[in-house]
This record gives sequence, structure tokens and C-alpha cells, in this order.
Amino acid sequence: MRRKMAAGNWKMNGSSAALSVISDLAAAHADNTDTDIVICPPAPLLFRASEIARSSAVTIGAQDCHSETAGAFTGDIAAPMIADAGATHVIVGHSERRDAYRESNSDVRAKAKAAWEAGLVAILCIGESAEDREADNTLDIIAGQLSGSVPNGSTGDNLVVAYEPVWAIGTGAVATTAQIDEVHDFIRARLVQRFGAEVGNAIRLLYGGSVKPGNAVEIFQCDNVDGALVGGASLKAQDFTPIIEALI
Ligand code: G3P
Repeated sequence: MRRKMAAGNWKMNGSSAALSVISDLAAAHADNTDTDIVICPPAPLLFRASEIARSSAVTIGAQDCHSETAGAFTGDIAAPMIADAGATHVIVGHSERRDAYRESNSDVRAKAKAAWEAGLVAILCIGESAEDREADNTLDIIAGQLSGSVPNGSTGDNLVVAYEPVWAIGTGAVATTAQIDEVHDFIRARLVQRFGAEVGNAIRLLYGGSVKPGNAVEIFQCDNVDGALVGGASLKAQDFTPIIEALI
């Protein structure tokens, strides 16, 4: 049985005032031992967020890391720094970074490896563009991203794969359950083929892209969906809580 996960990606939103969302979630889910709740705030909030979440059901993740552990990389954040701030997870390969910063599959692979070396769980994002889907290339793109971005050596619990179709992110255009099923079953088969049944079946698969309280229950009924990576609806505890509860 894979543990369910609700991960919130705040992107470049939030200030110290928003940290009350984390204490509200911690209070609301004090008895929740079944679901991993991960909040990924902007980097300046990581330390305080981790302090607030300490000993609660909420854990903290970063939104990106560098592939090197230290050096002359102005503005970047190394994976050991994220761990030192008290976080346990890091998102790598989000489509916004693949697009805006031209991150390649091999860049993402190096970041995921750096995350593992720092003891972090990598939440590795993949997903096709609208053009890819229209051209019927979705599964080819997913296969290429999986083989190119996922490093060798997954232990199962150090990797979470988030399928986020780019056209569904922040648009309200959520993928259908048939589309989610097709891609998640494909990802599962590829992971089992590459890592073997034990590890391949232990890796959690999240869906991301316009997940809201109103559609979460239906999405979570898909066999190979182990939770969600949520953007906009993770910014307020009253929106994120029903999504978490849909997993329990
Ligand atoms: O990483 C989460 C994200 O890209 C989905 O965003 O706002 O569509 O839930 P949103």
C-alpha cells in the first residue's frame, strides 16, 4: 500500500503572514497519520515553515534545487541547504522551470540526484504541452521525460513522480479521468520495467493541474493516482483541506 500524498506548491506566492496556513493545516490534521501533507513555500519561508510544521502531520518542501552542493551560483539554492532549513522534499522539473529556465531532462536528473544525496524526497514533474497532446505525442513525451529526468537508483520512497499536463496548470482545464488513467498507468508500467516491481510499485504518482475541492474525489479514484500536486488551491487551508480529506 502506497501512502497517499497531498503536496501544495505555493509557487512565487505567500509571505510570512501566509505561514498561518501551515499551522491551520497542522491543527486540522493533528490525527492524520495516513496521508503525507507537504507544503512547498518560496525559499525564504522554508526555515520558518519547517519550524512551524515540526512534529506535526505537515512536512515542508522546496520548489527547486541546484545540482551542485555549493559554489558560485548566485541566487540558487543547494539541496543540502534545503535539508538544513528543515525541509524534507523538493520539487524538481516543474514545467514552469523547464519552460522559463530551459531546464532539460538531464538538468532535472542532476537536480533529483542532488536531492537524494541530501536525503530529500524528489517530487519530479513531467507532463506534455497542449501541442504534444494535440499531435498525439503524449506518451512519447512522458516516456522521454521519465527516461531522461529520473536518475538511476530510486529506492521507491525517495521519488514521487507528478504528472502535470502543462495545459491543465492554472487553467481550470483539468484532465479527464480517462486521460489521467492512461498516463498514470503508463508511468507505473515504465517505472516497474526500469526499477523492478518492488521499487516501481512503491513510487508514488501524483496528478497536478487545476485540482480543486470539487474535482479531487473523482481524480483520486484513478488506480494509479496516489495524491495530488496542487498549486492555487493549496494557498488557503480551507481549499486545501477538502483535497487532503478526499484522500483519507
Ligand atoms: O505544481 C502544481 C501546479 O503546477 C498546478 O497548479 O494551480 O493548476 O493547481 P494549479
